[in-house]
Amino acid sequence: MTDPPLVVPRLIERKRDGLALAPEEWTAIVRGYVAGTIPDYQISALAMAVVFRGLTEPELVALTGAMLESGDRFRLEDMAWPRVDKHSIGGVGDKTSLLLAPMLACLEVAVPMISGRGLGHTGGTLDKLEAIPGFSTQLSLAEARRVLDRLGCVMMGQTPELVPADRKLYALRDVTGTVESIPLISASIMSKKLAESLTGLVLDIKTGSGAFITDPVQSLVLAETMIRLGEARGCRTTALLTAMDRPLGVACGNAVEVAEVIEGLRGGGPADLMEVTYALAAEMLLVSGRATARADARARVEAVIESGQALDRFRQLVEVQGGDPRVVDDPGRLPRAPVWLDVVADRNATVTAVAPRPIGHAIVALGGGRTKTDDRVDPAVGILVFVRPGQAVTRGERLATIAARSRDAAERARASVLAAMSFDGPLAPLPLISHRVTRDGVVPW
Ligand code: URA
Repeated sequence: MTDPPLVVPRLIERKRDGLALAPEEWTAIVRGYVAGTIPDYQISALAMAVVFRGLTEPELVALTGAMLESGDRFRLEDMAWPRVDKHSIGGVGDKTSLLLAPMLACLEVAVPMISGRGLGHTGGTLDKLEAIPGFSTQLSLAEARRVLDRLGCVMMGQTPELVPADRKLYALRDVTGTVESIPLISASIMSKKLAESLTGLVLDIKTGSGAFITDPVQSLVLAETMIRLGEARGCRTTALLTAMDRPLGVACGNAVEVAEVIEGLRGGGPADLMEVTYALAAEMLLVSGRATARADARARVEAVIESGQALDRFRQLVEVQGGDPRVVDDPGRLPRAPVWLDVVADRNATVTAVAPRPIGHAIVALGGGRTKTDDRVDPAVGILVFVRPGQAVTRGERLATIAARSRDAAERARASVLAAMSFDGPLAPLPLISHRVTRDGVVPW
């Protein structure tokens, strides 16, 4: 059956004027875009109309479904284990994925983790993994399946055959000011996650000044929207709302974050990072059905760290995906920047804010992120942020350390780090974890 001809300008006008398009019109739009019969300029106008007008629920369901159907699936239904992933909306210092995949695999939950690269001021899991010498994130679906069958987890990039509609649409949104839209973010993320044949999904919805959606109320709407899309397709989906009004953990950058992950897998790691990691891990175990009570789930995820099992699984994962497993025992083998510069307090004061966005931008300026999609990322550079809102510091105390390629670059980053920090001002940090959201509603944490 052939699709009826689409008059795209009329569809754009209808959306612009706040009317809903029919589900089959969304299907035809996605098909036409992927096939190349609808040009970028029409899709970007339509995306902008969606930014301003939103989508009705039937439109959102149709758009997500059409994007999901635009390519293949990572078919895993024959696996004996439940299949659960975690997806974060993105942040600075957010490295929980690297801890969670091996932890859950030790508890007989398969984690087919398909991740992304850094975007804007945020870091990306693939860039972090690629800081490990030799680690390959570009696996075919067949290779990924072999790793998953062997270790219970795999960490990889999106393949060309998975959700090509999002691949094209995301790149277009990135350069047309159309990322910040709850329905477009929801359709983008959920089409990719549903293509992984998951039985469960945990969303880490970042909120605060360093998140893509900065307003906590809107963050809850985003969580509820994605949960509806997941649950409607039989994927148990829950979300935690977590703070991104300061970086997570100490290390921000690629190799330095991997070193912090290894510290975490060894039972150390900054308290805030480990708290969010344990909460997400327990949530993954609950949605997998392998645990029914939070306290039990929490005890079991802590046990795989204490026993060293999760660290072993991470070492195996690094080796199987082509990386140098010796970094796990000797993080000194990770790429190391030549210049390290401390930023110290010039007076006694209380730190009242550490804004993640300028810290993320400073890392990009050091070479640790991209300003163009084809930029090469320098894995060695980064910023260690030692202070948190509410912390008292004394004159001369270290606030941060910058890892850079040159003294000049480090000095520029120092200015950005100081500009990102406020002292003795109003203090209103967001709770580290503020809400849990499920299909049954929103519950304060
Ligand atoms: N991450 C995605 O994959 N898609 C979005 O739209 C935003 C963040």
